[in-house]
Amino acid sequence: MLSPRYLSLLLAFVIAGVCTSFLSFLPNTDFTILFISFISSFIFGSAVIYFALDNLVFKEVNKLYDRIKQIKKKNFSVIPRKQLIEKENPIELLKEELNSYVTTKEDEVKELKKAAKYRQEFLADVSHELKTPIFAAQGFVHTLLDNPEEDPEIRKRFLEKAAKSLDGLDILVKDLLTVSQIETGAIKIDKKALDLKPLVLEIFEQLEAKAKSKNIELKLIGHPGPVLVKADYQRISQVLVNLIDNGIKYGHQDGKVTVHLEEKKKAFLIMVKDNGPGVPAEHLPRLFERFYRVDKSRAKLNGGSGLGLSIVKHIIQAHNSKISVFSKVDKGTSFQFKLEKA
Ligand SMILES: Nc1ncnc2c1ncn2[C@@H]1O[C@H](COP(=O)(O)OP(=O)(O)OP(=O)(O)O)[C@@H](O)[C@H]1O
Ligand SMILES: [Mg+2]
Repeated sequence: MLSPRYLSLLLAFVIAGVCTSFLSFLPNTDFTILFISFISSFIFGSAVIYFALDNLVFKEVNKLYDRIKQIKKKNFSVIPRKQLIEKENPIELLKEELNSYVTTKEDEVKELKKAAKYRQEFLADVSHELKTPIFAAQGFVHTLLDNPEEDPEIRKRFLEKAAKSLDGLDILVKDLLTVSQIETGAIKIDKKALDLKPLVLEIFEQLEAKAKSKNIELKLIGHPGPVLVKADYQRISQVLVNLIDNGIKYGHQDGKVTVHLEEKKKAFLIMVKDNGPGVPAEHLPRLFERFYRVDKSRAKLNGGSGLGLSIVKHIIQAHNSKISVFSKVDKGTSFQFKLEKA
């Protein structure tokens, strides 16, 4: 290892060697004189070189290293001061510090670029999604304003259509708010013990009319006892509503949506299955992306904002779990995730 001590000893040894070999060429120089001159030039040389190296080079580099440390951010890995006092090679330390500084800055730049790209895409997606209901409502209202003499029946129909678009807009804005709150970590998950069985039955009741309109059967297949998990009641109910609602919305007429609650070692496995048209394999990896819809026109007809599954994914992740999807065309789709037992 390069250090002022070793370097000065090495240089002093070479210098003493050269001086002594010159002396040996002079007449009348015996071994004692040569030996004394070697030792004295070695000691003197090493002291002078050590002092010069340490004060002029290494101390300056140490000062430089300290300055770099000061300009670094708090979270940078700092090499302990003790190491410097112990005379580790400061050039090596300086190199390490510079490398860590550059790596951290590089990571920061990458993160910033990613965040900027995310913001850009999010903004583009949001403006695109907002355009549809706003333009629709605008169209109906302007038609009414331009035709004041319109038949009251038609007026009512137009107003109803405008109201529907605005209701959709309201849902979209609320969903967007949820997505952004979850993504920025503003929503706190309040985990408490809860029984999933009554919760699922309550959601079935909530969605009963919708299921009846397509003659879809809602079924709970459960573990015999209570299904107690540690979860946030509001958020998990949002997850189940989204999944069961999708099963109904995208399921076949006269179909079936089943919720299975299965006991595992430390958790309960929750599965929401339907026997609908399924999702082609190439779409599965992108299903949880915000605004991703398999059949754009049909999904729009169903009035979804395309944010449901992205919200579901984030909520399940916030519960330290992950959601998976299995689907076969013409057979059906199944969403599964685990929740820790209470
Ligand atoms: N059970 C399912 N069967 C078939 N396709 C599904 C199913 N669940 C989701 N999908 C597909 O995944 C897409 C994304 O679903 P997601 O729940 O995120 O949005 P959405 O239902 O269109 O809108 P939102 O849930 O916001 O009302 C849907 O548009 C649909 O194409
Ligand atoms: Mg949905």
